[in-house]
Amino acid sequence: MRILVIGSGAREHALLHAMSRGEAGHELHVAPGNVGMAALAERHEVVADDPAAVTALARSIDAGLVVIGPEVPLVAGVADALRGAGIAVFGPDAAAARIEGSKAFAKEVMAAAGVRTAHAESIAPGAGEAELAAAVDRFGPTWVVKDDGLAAGKGVVVTDDRAAALDHARAVLAAGNPVLLESFLDGPEVSLFCLVDGTEVVPLLPAQDHKRVGEGDTGPNTGGMGAYCPLDWLPADAVDRIVAEVCEPVAAELARRGTPYSGLLYAGLAWGAEGPAVVEFNCRFGDPETQAVLALLESDLAEALHATATGRLAGLAPLRWREGHALTVVLAAAGYPESPRTGDPIAGAEPGREAEGVLHAGTARDGAGRVVSAGGRVLNVVGVGADLAEARERAYATLAGIDLPGGHYRRDIALPAVEGRIRIPG
Ligand code: GLY
Repeated sequence: MRILVIGSGAREHALLHAMSRGEAGHELHVAPGNVGMAALAERHEVVADDPAAVTALARSIDAGLVVIGPEVPLVAGVADALRGAGIAVFGPDAAAARIEGSKAFAKEVMAAAGVRTAHAESIAPGAGEAELAAAVDRFGPTWVVKDDGLAAGKGVVVTDDRAAALDHARAVLAAGNPVLLESFLDGPEVSLFCLVDGTEVVPLLPAQDHKRVGEGDTGPNTGGMGAYCPLDWLPADAVDRIVAEVCEPVAAELARRGTPYSGLLYAGLAWGAEGPAVVEFNCRFGDPETQAVLALLESDLAEALHATATGRLAGLAPLRWREGHALTVVLAAAGYPESPRTGDPIAGAEPGREAEGVLHAGTARDGAGRVVSAGGRVLNVVGVGADLAEARERAYATLAGIDLPGGHYRRDIALPAVEGRIRIPG
């Protein structure tokens, strides 16, 4: 199959690497991609959130499947345009992608579908200081303050400091977006990715993300500093419960509204005393969890995504997974997340190291042809092992051989799970 992947991060690098494995011999293209993907896929220039441009590119290479990685093109209607042109596309239409694009919409869908989630209030831009302060005082501590729009994982502040909660709410409103205040959901976080074609739901392995920049979950939220899977500390029926209590009801509600979901539904959950409660939905593969989850997939990923795109999930053979565990660690640039520095040369990041777990996110070549940093999250390193401890050893050993001046990464990815420190409330 000739496949075009849209996106340029380590998630898209992991998607390409997974689709390149095995016997099928898929022909891979990526737009815009990054320098690290050069050994796997032909790169094309495109404005990724321009529906007409992506459709023209897919037509020009006669793509049999387009896989859209990030949320911005999905919310912008790129999948709608491709479907309209008769091209198989993995990713929801804009109307269904609102499940990520508008947190208020996601809350409305969950209420209609009877899905457990945090209590929330939306404050519109233009709200006065007294109105905002009164709303903040109806919540917290702990306060959860969200930008009700796409913010690349950085629009959420979770804090016990009322002043910090108010500051973030003011900043979101000043940017012209509604702000969402939520009650805090207690319990460890779980990310479950499901392939959804209308009402058929096929889960992948559950994973856990580490969102804060600092070890011990300190510092500001980021787009994710590392992740691991599967989650041995979850109850045995956890995935079945998330599918039955969260993903199937939401898919059914979207179908009932005439905006059926086709693509990857990412349920971000807290696992509390009563089981799963939704923190957020995303309309695409999670980053960096995907890099760990796909490292364990043995089935042909392209076949699974094509079956989703063409409404044939019910006939797909059960997904096969490698035994063991995987984790990914994000190597971030100096200054990330506030003001990442770019242009630093990276030793040990030449393209072609996917099999060793080296995936590129924010990289480029400079005028001298060196691989340099070109974004906040620069590389992801994946380790696979018989258990999490071994997967950690492998990932950190690979990272030790990579040098990025000023670069930083968390050394405690998956450590609470390895040390048995994850507790489910109640
Ligand atoms: N891992 C967080 C996200 O993908 O949004």
